[in-house]
Parts: sequence; C-alpha cells; structure tokens
Amino acid sequence: MLHDNITIGNNGHLYFAGMDTVELAKKYGTPLYLVDENKIRENCRIYIECVKKYFGEKSIPLFASKSLCYLDLYRILKEEGTGVDVVSGGELYTALKAGFPAERMFFHGNNKTDEEIEYGIKSGVGYFVVDNKEELDTVSETASKYGVTQKILLRLSPGIDPHTHKAVVTGSVDSKFGTAIETGQAMELTKYALKKPNVYLVGFHCHIGSQIFEHTPFSDAAKIMLQFIADVRAETGVLADMLNLGGGIGVRYVEEHPEVDIDLIFRSIKNEVDNFCRKKGFESPTILFEMGRYISANAGMTLYTVGSFKSITGYKNYVSIDGGMTDNPRYALYQSPYTVVVANRANEEKSVVATIAGRCCESGDLIQEDVAIQPCKKGDILAVLVTGAYNYAMASHYNRLPKPAMVSIRDKADRLVVRRETYEDLLRNEILIES
Ligand code: LLP
Repeated sequence: MLHDNITIGNNGHLYFAGMDTVELAKKYGTPLYLVDENKIRENCRIYIECVKKYFGEKSIPLFASKSLCYLDLYRILKEEGTGVDVVSGGELYTALKAGFPAERMFFHGNNKTDEEIEYGIKSGVGYFVVDNKEELDTVSETASKYGVTQKILLRLSPGIDPHTHKAVVTGSVDSKFGTAIETGQAMELTKYALKKPNVYLVGFHCHIGSQIFEHTPFSDAAKIMLQFIADVRAETGVLADMLNLGGGIGVRYVEEHPEVDIDLIFRSIKNEVDNFCRKKGFESPTILFEMGRYISANAGMTLYTVGSFKSITGYKNYVSIDGGMTDNPRYALYQSPYTVVVANRANEEKSVVATIAGRCCESGDLIQEDVAIQPCKKGDILAVLVTGAYNYAMASHYNRLPKPAMVSIRDKADRLVVRRETYEDLLRNEILIES
C-alpha cells in the first residue's frame, strides 16, 4: 500500500513498520505521530549512496531539518552519516543537544537574527548559507569578534518554475529567498563577499521548490548555477568549490503520485554538470543536496480517533477526528492530497466518501475533502498516511490543543520520542499578574 512499510495484518488492522496501529493507538492514545526509524535509515542510505555514486566522497548529503525535527532524530542522522541543514536557532539547538557535529551543519534562513548568527558561529557551525548583504556584514563582524573565518555559501535564486504548488516554489526571481542572478545583484553580492574579512566564500546555493517529481527542473537549475559560477570566474578569477542544489524531491502521498526515481534525478544532474564543466574547461564544484521530505515523509503516519460520522442529507459526509490542522496544516495551507485508512477496518472496502474534519473552530480545518474511506463510527482509529514531513514540524497550539506524542518504531519495538503535551505544558511560559 503506497509504501512497503504500510501493510494490512491478518486481523484486518493497518500495520506500520510491522506494528499493529490499533494497538499503538490503544497504548499511547491519539492523536499520535508514528515514525518508522528503519525507513528513515533506509531512505538515508539510498540517498547517501546515490549522492556518493554521482558526486563523490566530498559531497555531504544533507537532511533538511525543517521537514522533521526532534532530538532523537539527530541520533539516527548522525549514525547514518548525513549532514543537516538548520534554519533557526531552535533547530540548531536541538541538533547540538543531540550531539550532532556542528561542522556538518549548514545554517539557512532568509532572516537569521544577529543572536542566531552569533550562536551559530560560537557553536562552530560548518557553513552559513547567507541570504543577503546585511547578513553577510553581520557574519563577517561576528566571525571577526570570535577570531574565526566562517565558511559561507550565497543563496541565489536561479529563476526556475518547478511545477509545484505556488506556496512551495522558492527559486523564482520574485522571491523572499536569496539574491537573483538575472538582475545582476547576485554578481554584486559575490564581489562584495569576496572582499569581506573573516568569511570564506566556498560557493553558492539554490533551492527551487518542493514536492518535485521531474528531473528537468533540477538539471535546469544546475545549468543556471554553473553558468553563474563560470561568470564569477570570468569576472573575478575565483572558482567556486561548492554548489548546493537544495532539496525538493517529491514523495508519493496517494496512488496517483508516481514513484520517484532518485537515481534518474541525480544522474541527469550529474550529466548536466559534467557536460557543462567539460565545455567550459573547469573542474566541477562539489555538488551538495539537502533533502527533507524524501527522507522523512514516508517514515511517518498519524493516528486519530473518530469522534463522529455526520452525514448531511443531500450534501456530504464529515468524519470528525481528535486532531486536525494543529498537527497537520498541509491540506488547509496547500490542499495537499493524503491517503486515509480506517485502521481497525483496513481490509474493508473504501465504500464511503467523506471529508475528514479536525477539531478547530475553523471551517478550513480539514485533513482531506471527499476522500474514499472505509465506513467508520465513533471510536474507530483513522490513519493518515505519509505524514513524516512538515506535520509535527508545522504543528501549532491553535485552540489550545496540546501537541500529540510521537512514537518511534525500530525492528518492531516502539519507543516514545516525544511526550504528549499536557495542559501544564501549555501554560509553561505564561504569567498571571496578581491583582
Ligand atoms: N532546502 C531549502 C533551502 C528549503 O527551503 C527546503 C524546503 C528544503 C531544502 C527541503 O525541501 P524538501 O526536500 O523537503 O522538499 N511546508 C511545505 C514545504 C516547504 C518547503 C520549504 N523548504 C509543505 O508542507 O509542503
């Protein structure tokens, strides 16, 4: 079913990573995030192997923390040997607390605060992906204060349309991210960076978007970035060492989505890079990637308990669950498709069409509209598949809903990795002023 870690047991229940999801829901309560640790490791291995095969040992296959971030995850990533991209002091703190090596971190973000920059430099973060001139100035000043030279990449926008939802396109010229090549501003910033003290410009970065299935947007981006690198060499004599092409490989959420061919994507980028460098007569920079969704999405599943089945005569059916946009805002934000299964009736036919509604006081709090599911009633367990990326990472406390627990499964053993929030947790930072 969709991915090989999702199966149906002899008892008709939905299984995830070899475990009965109905039993897990009983043991830990709902809503509940599940993480398949073996799948994360398998995805890391396929990714690392592919990156090394085409781009050599010098390349660092990075994981994009923004897709999924919790303490124990960095233990797994460290063991598997990835690097990580972090986009905030919070992600950096989490990774450091788990003992993840700072030199294998890339610090991202279009508006890092001065405090975050200082925290990153003090912690020995390997690379800053610098978004703009002001940031460059601060990185340079802060590095000088600590007597270090900080390695940096400049984030550029190559002006690519990767055919994905507009909210997740990030590489077009009119973007809040990075500096545009097309307008000449990227060249200006590069020349400025080359003159700055205490920073060492190792190369350039771009990220064109997310949930991309085709290989052409990636190889098009590589070509544009390499042309820029060639232009920089022509104008300044400096040849970049590193080109980070970001993340964005798509994942199957529903049967209609294709199975992504990661080997084909990397192979076509490699061909583009080799052809280009041969023609221009220069050595290829080290090519890096930072995949998030590809690593984390199919390693996750969310379990809910059904509260009611409401059939509005002449209109539609609503299934209300005990979570919603607070633990998974992706349908509300991007109308993202998901596959939904009634976990305790997984072997029954999907004979009902229903809208899966969350508990927030907001009509847009939906997980999916008009989706085929098994007939269900109060007390049934409803599973939403492939929720490992951008679900827990984007969770909120709207309507004062405590965040769900997360359970990690490895070799058919389940362990709690994130405790369910309590009402006390919600008040942790609040102060009642005495009257
Ligand atoms: N690198 C950079 C600079 C990024 O901005 C992103 C994602 C990635 C890497 C990882 O992209 P991935 O491999 O996961 O596609 N919340 C949206 C996705 C936003 C993606 C933001 N940037 C969603 O739920 O679909």
